[in-house]
Amino acid sequence: MKIKWGVIGCGGIALRRTIPGMMLSENSELVAVMDTNFEAAEKVKEEFGAKYAFSSAEELLNVEEIDAVYIATPVFCHKEQVKLAAEAKKHILLEKPMGLTVEESIEIDGICKKNGVKLGVGLMMRFSSYHQKMKELISNGVIGDIVSMRGQFTCWYPEMPGVWRQDKKLSGGGALIDMGIHAIDLLQYISSTKAKTIACFSNNNVFKYSVDDSSALLMKMDNGATAFVDANFNIPDNAAKCRLEFYGTKGSLLAEGTLGQVEDGTILLTTSDPDAAYDAQQNREDKAFEKVEITKTGNMYEKEISSFANAIINDTTPEITAEDGIFVQTIVEKAYLASQDGEYKSV
Ligand SMILES: NC(=O)c1ccc[n+]([C@@H]2O[C@H](COP(=O)([O-])OP(=O)(O)OC[C@H]3O[C@@H](n4cnc5c(N)ncnc54)[C@H](O)[C@@H]3O)[C@@H](O)[C@H]2O)c1
Repeated sequence: MKIKWGVIGCGGIALRRTIPGMMLSENSELVAVMDTNFEAAEKVKEEFGAKYAFSSAEELLNVEEIDAVYIATPVFCHKEQVKLAAEAKKHILLEKPMGLTVEESIEIDGICKKNGVKLGVGLMMRFSSYHQKMKELISNGVIGDIVSMRGQFTCWYPEMPGVWRQDKKLSGGGALIDMGIHAIDLLQYISSTKAKTIACFSNNNVFKYSVDDSSALLMKMDNGATAFVDANFNIPDNAAKCRLEFYGTKGSLLAEGTLGQVEDGTILLTTSDPDAAYDAQQNREDKAFEKVEITKTGNMYEKEISSFANAIINDTTPEITAEDGIFVQTIVEKAYLASQDGEYKSV
């Protein structure tokens, strides 16, 4: 069985990554695309062989054969489009962040529950073979008990007039909600921990738009570990390696370039004897690190689409749920408040 998809918002991420991923999915078929920019929709229809292109969500949702929609529009459009899709009884895979605020994301979840449709959230980096491997190694105790973590995710995002992401009313926030959200989610997912208390500095160092261009978040996790997330819109793309780092009582796992839209990167592992005595020399050997071999299992967007389609076919809970999306957004929202108030916040 194949799930028949409609795509709402077929510009940016949908065109670049998710629709190409959908083409690779064995249990999915692209039927219709919609964008308020009709020319863009028409172009995507031609390129990927969809049956229909529309300029309104209502028209797309009238196509009876569509089982599910993927919503990849600017964040301020999400709630209204989820409502229309849920009322049309279509299952929904919704891009992150779910809504402009946690309150809106909870409402979105409620709308889907009320209408009996499944809701999945586009935190697709969980599907990366690199992140799955790190999760496996950590859950097998290879680096011992996790005591410290870091997630860095940045891009160069200078001021551009009229861009929705640079207007807080349309995006809900800047570097932290747009990019940091993936790093926060991955740190928790890979280490199987959850944030409990947070502190944050979030501000504009370089650009004048109404969202943060720099956010530094510190989290105390439920296992006692600490985690640091740095998300910036003001570091040149080539200047940051977008790192994920996990330090435990027996070693560490250090990833470079795995956080991003391409399933790629490098992971280094080192382990040592947890019963070793204190060494006053504190010598460090570069050679202690070895590269972790990764068996790539596909494309993370294909896996994201196939996984959600499977949840519909088998009537199971989507792998990445609304609760996951709401929890990570709660951390982001409280981080913005913590920065404003200069206080720690509980999550
Ligand atoms: N998971 C990821 O890796 C990832 C990466 C980038 C973006 N995103 C998320 O995807 C969503 C879209 O981001 P983007 O970067 O693709 O944005 P974008 O601005 O590049 O593209 C959005 C598209 O939506 C269209 N659009 C605007 N208003 C619309 C409406 N009311 N109805 C239908 N279409 C409309 C635009 O014409 C454009 O083609 C956001 O939620 C963003 O956070 C996720």
